[in-house]
Order: sequence, then C-alpha cells, then structure tokens
Amino acid sequence: MKPLRVALLGCGVVGSQVIRLMHEQSADLAARVGAPLELAGVAVRRLSRKRDIEVDPALLTTDAESLVTRDDVDIVIEVIGGIEPARSLIVAALSRGKSVITANKALLAEDGGTLHEAARAGNGDLYFEASVAGAIPLLRPLRESLAGDRVRRVLGIVNGTTNYILDKMDSTGASFLDALEEAQTLGYAEADPTADVEGFDAAAKAAILAGLAFHSRVPAEQVHREGITDITATDVASAKAMGYVIKLLAICARSDDGRTFGVRVHPAMIPRTHPLAGVREAYNAVFVEAESAGQLMFYGKGAGGAPTASAVLGDLVAVGRNRLAGTRGPEESTYAHLTVHPMGDTVTRLHVALDVADKPGVLARVAELFAKHDVSIQTVRQEGQGDDAQLVIVTHRASDAALTATMDELRALDIVRSVAGLMRVEGDD
Ligand SMILES: NC(=O)c1ccc[n+]([C@@H]2O[C@H](COP(=O)([O-])OP(=O)(O)OC[C@H]3O[C@@H](n4cnc5c(N)ncnc54)[C@H](OP(=O)(O)O)[C@@H]3O)[C@@H](O)[C@H]2O)c1
Repeated sequence: MKPLRVALLGCGVVGSQVIRLMHEQSADLAARVGAPLELAGVAVRRLSRKRDIEVDPALLTTDAESLVTRDDVDIVIEVIGGIEPARSLIVAALSRGKSVITANKALLAEDGGTLHEAARAGNGDLYFEASVAGAIPLLRPLRESLAGDRVRRVLGIVNGTTNYILDKMDSTGASFLDALEEAQTLGYAEADPTADVEGFDAAAKAAILAGLAFHSRVPAEQVHREGITDITATDVASAKAMGYVIKLLAICARSDDGRTFGVRVHPAMIPRTHPLAGVREAYNAVFVEAESAGQLMFYGKGAGGAPTASAVLGDLVAVGRNRLAGTRGPEESTYAHLTVHPMGDTVTRLHVALDVADKPGVLARVAELFAKHDVSIQTVRQEGQGDDAQLVIVTHRASDAALTATMDELRALDIVRSVAGLMRVEGDD
C-alpha cells in the first residue's frame, strides 16, 4: 500500500512526541489508517539544537515553506505555534490540497476563518483537536457527537498553569507570586507566564469552543478576558471559608432567548461541591450542557508533550482515513451566525466584601443601592466590628452591567472605605 507522507512543522515539546509515537506505533497506526504513515520531513528553527529524541538528520530542514509544498507530502502537522509563519505555512499546504492538523489555538482563535476557507478551497481537512484541552477528546464530541443536539453552555477549566497556581493557593495558603514561582520551577508555567496568567490562552480556547458549540464564528477579541494576577491569598481564604474555591473559568453560554451567546474567561468562585472544584493541579475539565444530552463532563491532561501528541495522532488517523477514502471530515459549521453579546448582558452573581464604617444605617444604604440597580441580595453578613467592620454580600443572578453599575456607586459611598473582595460566583445555578 502506498504510504501517506507526513510533514511535521516543529519538533519541540509536542512535535518530538509526535515523532516518537509515529515511530513506536507505526504498525498499529498503519492498520488503523489503512496505509503506512511516513515522515517526509521535519521543519525546525535551529538544526543544531539538542532534541529530546533522535531525528534522522536527513529529515530535518529549516525550509518549512518548501517542505509543506512538496508534491510527495499528503498531510502537514503544524506544531510550531504563534501566528506567523504558522498561518502562511498552513494556508500554503491547504491551498495545494494537503490536509492539515494543528495544535495552534492562538492562530485558530485569531484567524481560524482564513484556515477553514483555505481547507474548503483546497478540498482538504483541517483538524485541531489538540488545540483545546490537550489530550481530552472535546472538539470531536462537540463537532460530531453533539451535532444533533443543542448546546446551551460550555463551562470549563482549560488552562493547566492557572489551575495549578490557584490550586496551590487554595491548598497551602500561598500568595499568587509564590504559587507562580513554584509552577515555574516545576515546569507548569513558562518563564514569561503572561499568556496563561492573564487569560489569553484560555480566551483563545474559549473562542474555539464557542464557535463549535454555537455554530458561529467567534472573533478572539470578542472574548471577555480577565486573568488571575490580582487574586490574593485573602480572596482564596475567604472563598474557602464560605465553602467555595476560586477557579479560572472559560464560559460559553447561550442567552435565554437563544439568539446570542456570551464568551468569557475570568476567575470565579464555585461551590466546593461542584465537579469542577475537584479538578486539582494542572488538570483540565470541561462541562458541556446540551438540551437533550444533559450534562457531560470531560476531564484529563490539558497539556504536555505526550498527551497533546495523542490528540494529534488521533487527528492523523482520522485525516489519513479520509484521504484514503477520497473524502473530507466535517467542515467548519457557522450557519447559525449568532452574535456574541457584550459582557454587560451576561447574567452572573457577585460576591462582595466591603470595608465599611460601623454605624447605624450602613446596611440599609448599601441594600438600597443594590435595589436601585435591581440586584437582589441572597446573603449578607457583617464580620468584625469598629474599624474592622466588613459587609460580605452575595447577590442573586443579575446582568453584569447592573452589577458593575452597583459596584461603581458603592465605591463612591462615604460609608464604604474600600472594596476588600470582589468575585463572580458561578456553578450553583
Ligand atoms: N506544549 C503543550 O503542552 C501544548 C499543548 C497543547 C497545544 N500546544 C500547542 O502546540 C504548539 C507547539 O507547542 P510546543 O510546546 O511543542 O512548542 P515548542 O516546544 O516551543 O516547539 C516549537 C517547535 O517549532 C519550531 N519552530 C519555531 N519556529 C519555527 C519556524 N519559523 N520554522 C520552523 N520551525 C519552527 C521550533 O524549532 P527549534 O526546536 O529548532 O527551536 C520547535 O521545534 C503550539 O501551538 C502550542 O500552543 C502545546
């Protein structure tokens, strides 16, 4: 049987594991695909770099452009990362009728449309299971298994670095910076952790998930994004005292009338009884709620060389089978053309801790302000006395715009000395 020839772009954390698995499992992969898979070349930036695995020097090249356009290449795997040259290389490959597998969430979120259009024009496949939640099968269930259902909400922990940091803060009482330092020492966080701790990585994944869940294209800039750098040990401790844990969540949810949806990434308090609360260390987990299927949960390793390569190899088998059958996998589905509503229209709850003057009438004035914005209060309690007096309030569900307006006015009240804690509450509705 004529082999399917594979060009690999990148031989770093993920790429090196793709090579190892292609080699170690070559007989099984050939049997599953229906033809042997053969590496045609491996594009890297530095030929002389010492690598985790041995790569035949004859396969290595720094000329990725020539590699992806070679006539003897059928499938291109892109694990370089970043926007350029990854985008140009993928488009060049797709335009020549090759199929492409990518793990590049940043590129898919920023300009997925260009890639999908190139795949359609070239009549090839574009698969990207590894781009969200590493090893966890999540995109194929959304794209195929749930294609007959109506997804209401996707709620998940999709960034292992921030989950590791928040978990350490919760279990040891560490500060954000101490937990970050430990994550860096253990290799869970990059030297420059911005993409993770500021929520960019999770926002890119949220854009991809929302696009699949709601059959609409989601521009990355429409994802509301907040990171975890401002979370203090006190925030974590007070959440814990109330039976909550703080997680960085990616939330994609249809509006009640189903006409729009929201996509957001921000830290939130969730009850310790919620299944996502038990997601520890660098693990990922995603909850999907669909009208007929009900609640589904996907859990596992969201990153790492071998777990991510597992997802890439799954795509490789699927794409290989499609090529042999002369067919293509499912195209991008954007027929619904739903729009992303602004963050202000999102319905959520708020936990607020206010340092207040300890005198009669304070509670009434604060409550009055909530009522003015139509925000009802679920619980309120006073902690401490005198200079230490604090009002801890948890609201019922209200629009984020109403909650923000309430907070703006609260800050201006003479009886409110400062806002000591402010966090959205999710997962108990
Ligand atoms: N790491 C994970 O756990 C994980 C999980 C899910 C998704 N991903 C995604 O997978 C992709 C790769 O991640 P990674 O962690 O494997 O990255 P990495 O370790 O930094 O490896 C990147 C590879 O790309 C090569 N490269 C960079 N620029 C190039 C260029 N212009 N031309 C040719 N080769 C070039 C590098 O060459 P040199 O080796 O010569 O430097 C290196 O081999 C990213 O999109 C990432 O978001 C990663």
